[in-house]
Order: sequence, then C-alpha cells, then structure tokens
Amino acid sequence: MKRTFTIALAALMPLFLNAQNITVRVETDPMEKQIIAKELYGQFSEHLGSCIYGGLWVGPDSNIPNINGYRKDVFEALKELKVPVMRWPGGCFADDYHWRDGIGPQANRPHIVNNNWGGTLEDNSFGTHEFLNLCEMLDCEPYISGNVGSGTVEEMSKWVEYMTAANGHMADERAANGRKEPWKVKYFGIGNEAWGCGGNMTAEYYSNQYRAFSTYLRDYHGNKLYKIASGASDYDYDWTETLMKAIGNKMDGVSLHYYSVNNWNDKGSATNFTDDEYYEIIGKTLEVEPVIARHCAIMDSVDPQKKIGLLLDEWGTWFNVEPGTNPGHLYQQNTMRDAIVAGLNFNIFHRYTDRLKMANIAQVVNVLQAMLLTNAEGQMIKTPTYYVFKMYNVHQDAQYLPVSCNAESVATPLDRTMPLVSATASRDAQGDIHVSLVNPDLKKDQKVTVELSALKGKAISGEIITAKDIHAYNDFGKAESVNIQNFKGFKVKGDNVEIELPAKSVVTITIK
Ligand code: AHR
Repeated sequence: MKRTFTIALAALMPLFLNAQNITVRVETDPMEKQIIAKELYGQFSEHLGSCIYGGLWVGPDSNIPNINGYRKDVFEALKELKVPVMRWPGGCFADDYHWRDGIGPQANRPHIVNNNWGGTLEDNSFGTHEFLNLCEMLDCEPYISGNVGSGTVEEMSKWVEYMTAANGHMADERAANGRKEPWKVKYFGIGNEAWGCGGNMTAEYYSNQYRAFSTYLRDYHGNKLYKIASGASDYDYDWTETLMKAIGNKMDGVSLHYYSVNNWNDKGSATNFTDDEYYEIIGKTLEVEPVIARHCAIMDSVDPQKKIGLLLDEWGTWFNVEPGTNPGHLYQQNTMRDAIVAGLNFNIFHRYTDRLKMANIAQVVNVLQAMLLTNAEGQMIKTPTYYVFKMYNVHQDAQYLPVSCNAESVATPLDRTMPLVSATASRDAQGDIHVSLVNPDLKKDQKVTVELSALKGKAISGEIITAKDIHAYNDFGKAESVNIQNFKGFKVKGDNVEIELPAKSVVTITIK
C-alpha cells in the first residue's frame, strides 16, 4: 500500500523532536585494514545517444575544440575527475558490437544502425584505438564489454589478442593501424545483461557460454585479464547463486546492475518532481544496500575468502528523457537530487569494500545520471553529480574507516526508510582523514557530532554541495547553481567536530 511521506512524517514527529544530536563515531584504528577500491568511482560510456558522438568524441575536423577528435572541454573535465576506470562500448550495445567495424582507416569503417538506442546511424569513427587511447590519456583502466549475444568465441578472443599481444598477426594488424605497442587491458566483461538484451539467456545457459568464451581469452605478454561474468539485476539473487556455483571458479568478478527507478513505465521527470517523488527515489537508492548485502551473502557461501569481486557496473538515476529529445537517447538533466543520490550510494558502497570492487555510474556524458552535459553549440556543463564525484575523490584507494552513526530512520513512500544522516570516512595515503556526510532531508538541518581521536593541533576544512531548491541544476550559458563551496559550519570541541549539516546537502570534512 502506498503511503505518503507527509503522513509518515507526521507519525514520526516525536522522533524528530528528540533527534537533535546525531553522533558519527569514526574508528580511526580499525583491526582490519581495508582499502576503498578507486574503481568504485568508475564511469560507463556506451554508444548511446550523444555519450560517444558529441560527448567524448567530435572528430578531428569538428569546429568544437578537440584534441585529435576528443572533445577538449569534456576531456579536461574528466581529467580533473581522476576517472579510475571506464567501461565501453556498452551496455546493450556491446552485444551488438563487432569490433572489426571500428578499426582501420576511418573512411572504410561501415556505417551501422544502433538497434538498441533509437536506430541512430553511426559511422564507427570511435572504435578500439580511439577508446583505448582515451583511457591512456585519462590515465584510467579500460573495461571492455565483449559481445556474447551476437558474437562468436573467435571474434572475442581475437579482440583480446589484437589489443594486448606484443607479436603475432593480430599485433601486426594493430601496428598497421597505427599502434605498435600493445595496450594494457585489465577488465574484460564477458557479455552484458545476458538475461535480457545480451541474449535472453537463462543463468545455466549463460554459464555454459561463459565457459566457452572465457577459455579463449588469453593473457598475452604480461597482460593479465580480470574476467567479469554478466551478473544479475536488482533482486535476481538466483542468477548470482547459479553463476557462483557453476562458474565461480572461472571468474574474477561478477557484475550487478541497479538503477534508482521505481516505475519503468513512467520514470518521472529529472527536474520537475514532488517531495514524495524525491523521497521515493531516495528510498529506492538506499535499497541498494540490502540488495548488495544479499548478493554478497550468496557469494560468501561459495567464496568465503572473497576472491571474487562484485562489480556494480551500472547504477544511477534513470528518469524520463527531457521533453523533445529522442526517447532512445536517454538524455536527462541532473539536479541537486542526483547529487544526494550519488553521495548516499558512495557511503553505502564503501561499507562493502571487502567485496565490492568496482562501480560504474551510467553514464559519463549526456546519458542518464551523467557527469557532463554537452550541446552541439560547443557548450558543456558539469552536473551536481560531477561535483559529488569530485568531492569524494579523496576516498579513492584510501583506507576505509568504519563509522557508527546513531541517526534515526524515518519512513519514506513505498514502505521504505531513510536515515536522517548518512556517513562514511577514510584515511588517505598522506594520513589525512576525510569524513563525508549526506543529509537527505528536504527541510531539516541536523546537528552532527563527529567523534574522532587525537584531534588536537589538526587543521580542519570542509566542502559542501547544496542548493536552496532541490530542483536546482546547472544549465547551458548560465552561472552554475550547484557546485562545491567552502563549508564553515563546524567547530572543534576536544576530540569532536560539531557540524551544522544543512538540509539536502553533501559535505566532506578533512582533518589534516
Ligand atoms: O545504461 C543503459 C542501459 O541499461 C545499458 O545499455 C544496459 O546494460 C542497461 O539495461
């Protein structure tokens, strides 16, 4: 039964009145040392709408400033973001992609219909070389998704050889196409959403396919592949269980997809939403935690030593497309709500750092919960989500510091709950501690006491992402409405930092 947040809030009023002091206790010397994989801050780039063409790539002859065809403003913004890993070429597109279409002289590359995404014609000017060179320029790991659905074992195995072998005829062909040295390719996905657009397979059938395909993906000349099985979506625990039992001994990781969507028939507007709709999305976002926990528990039962990684290689908000845009291009704006969603997700991901080894937001430019939006006039905006990624960079490869937070939870629509404050903490290589906090409530500021040890003499600084209006977004040709600001709403008392955490905000405190 659908309950409205207004009713739930009224019922919980006494709880609000008492919940004046929230304590976040940071364990600065945990027994077990765990690292937050930088790959949790990964990106996903698909041949979909204007993610590749017009987003990452405009071609060297474009009037839009570019570096050998890569859009300059986008490249520079991503460089600043320290992208650790980028997934490509899909998504659903991957199981329709034949890599040979995207190599060799540009003029000879076939034009193909993108059957998954709006029937758009594409000229394959962005292919293997363009993607892997971009990853090198960004200093990020490539994550290739191979074609199981409509491809062959031979096609996939030759692709790996083409990219990574130092000699042999595939290496010669690569050299003839302008690249003598092999690339380093670590992450390789064997299919995508095999239960759906990747071939409508059963878990048993896919497991057998996986056996055959993975057998012929070799490690060439010092390159070591990390092989990823096409995993479940959301609550499909049977898929994970079947794969773990059938091919657990043959995979390095298994993927999971989870989008913040409640109703696939009407996903709601990205910018125009009610308070109830806001809390519905927050509730669905937070539900990723029990979902991850249950997939992890299934993996634990087969792999108690946690050798196999769980990779959440698609996540984020998915709203109706912006009015007037191609429904197959998944172009949506990005508001302060998306920033809250991103912060809440990261705080959860960090808690599963012993098993969760990668997460890739969908997608990097112009698609779904994007970092960047571009237009054909050569303008680009950084979204509120971009700024959360930037603020949270400090947690990449940092030591995970467990936190306990006594914030109450309140009811949200669709029978879910939301904590009044969400927190995470880490210690970076320099020894600095970073505590990130999210206040997802639309109206209520919170007093938060962060308890640490030995604060004396330390320099403390803060950053905040917030907006007066949760609907605020950055728009072309206008001053930014949402970005990172200095935050001064804290004071030090002994070993504690007392924080006034504004409603609908994401904050990071740094203790040097
Ligand atoms: O990210 C958009 C699409 O969502 C991907 O292509 C697919 O894997 C998922 O269903």
